[in-house]
Amino acid sequence: MQPSDKPLTLLGDLTPAEFLASYWQQKPLLIRGAIPDYISPIEPDELAGLACEPGIEARLVEEDGPDGAWQVSHGPFDEATFERLPERNWSLLVQAVDHYLPSVAALLEEFDFLPRWRLDDIMVSYAPPGGSVGPHVDQYDVFLFQASGQRRWQLGGQTRDDAPIIQGIDLRILETFEVEEDSDWVLEPGDMLYLPPGWAHHGVSQTDDCITMSVGFRAPSADEAVTSYADYRGEQLPASLRYSDAGRAPAADSGELDDVSVERMRQLILSTLDNPQQIAQWFGRAMTQPKYVDQVVPLDTPMNEASLVAQLQEDGPLYQMPGSRFAWRTENGATTLFVDGEGYTCTEALAQRLASPTPLHEDVLELPGAKALITQLVNAGSLSWLQDDDDDEE
Ligand code: SIN
Ligand code: CO
Repeated sequence: MQPSDKPLTLLGDLTPAEFLASYWQQKPLLIRGAIPDYISPIEPDELAGLACEPGIEARLVEEDGPDGAWQVSHGPFDEATFERLPERNWSLLVQAVDHYLPSVAALLEEFDFLPRWRLDDIMVSYAPPGGSVGPHVDQYDVFLFQASGQRRWQLGGQTRDDAPIIQGIDLRILETFEVEEDSDWVLEPGDMLYLPPGWAHHGVSQTDDCITMSVGFRAPSADEAVTSYADYRGEQLPASLRYSDAGRAPAADSGELDDVSVERMRQLILSTLDNPQQIAQWFGRAMTQPKYVDQVVPLDTPMNEASLVAQLQEDGPLYQMPGSRFAWRTENGATTLFVDGEGYTCTEALAQRLASPTPLHEDVLELPGAKALITQLVNAGSLSWLQDDDDDEE
């Protein structure tokens, strides 16, 4: 964790505290040279290779597609797809590249001033000159980091959820987009643009090596939160706890839904839902849900504590699986480690250690409860010896 009072080059020499107070979720910030002399860890060809792999979420956006304007196709793609593409005006977007390439995931460390459970993923896009996904609005905070080549970004100001979009296409492109004053920049490698949710933006590639990395954040909608928390809490409530009206007054009119009855229902709902401890337990589980569940694969043959200890000694350290998510919380002296949507009770020291993305060496076993919990997490597929580094030779 970085100290919050140290100016960061990444934030244009603002301290994390200053950035969070004045920009985060409030207004855009352009940062020239956020990571000076940055060399992209991924080439366009490699990105195209990922987009051809089954199980990886990839999209191709063609402004003048063979089947119409702003055509969107979904991966996995094949070589023939890339061979038929024109020289201009298309974009390839690959989701969660940090899950596949540790060298891309390394960028996440720069954002340690924000909780890791707020992070969603790094989407990487490649576009030849003219390529874009059209002017649009996202509901999430994003840091648009220019990894190679140049992209021209234009901002259109804060935009309402219901702003008109072009009909009849698979993309949410704004019908009208007016560039705000002083909101038109060409980003060079190492430059970064922070955008809060709800700001119209349009990014067009200027070069044939334009790679943009979008560090995106997750924030559940009120709709998702209410539904998911009510489900979680509901499972804990006995069937006998239900609407009750002992001592009620006689009905004035047997067809009326009266105020007192509505208030009794309101109290039942609010008193069962308003439970800070259970909200925290649900929140930890919700924010550590993996983005792609198939990336957290339980072991076919679960291991026991003795074999875990032996393997840690023989095979070296364990890693968090790139698709796994960890967070911890202590409340009233009890600590929960949240991993991939589950909650585990353990000591705070162990929870902190396991939630930290640094490799787990043998010495972790000295922490009380470590053997049993680490064995569980290896069996669940959240920790592993195999770091998924594919063809990423660094
Ligand atoms: C892109 O990388 O082309 C699009 C990123 C965005 O606008 O969110
Ligand atoms: Co966007």
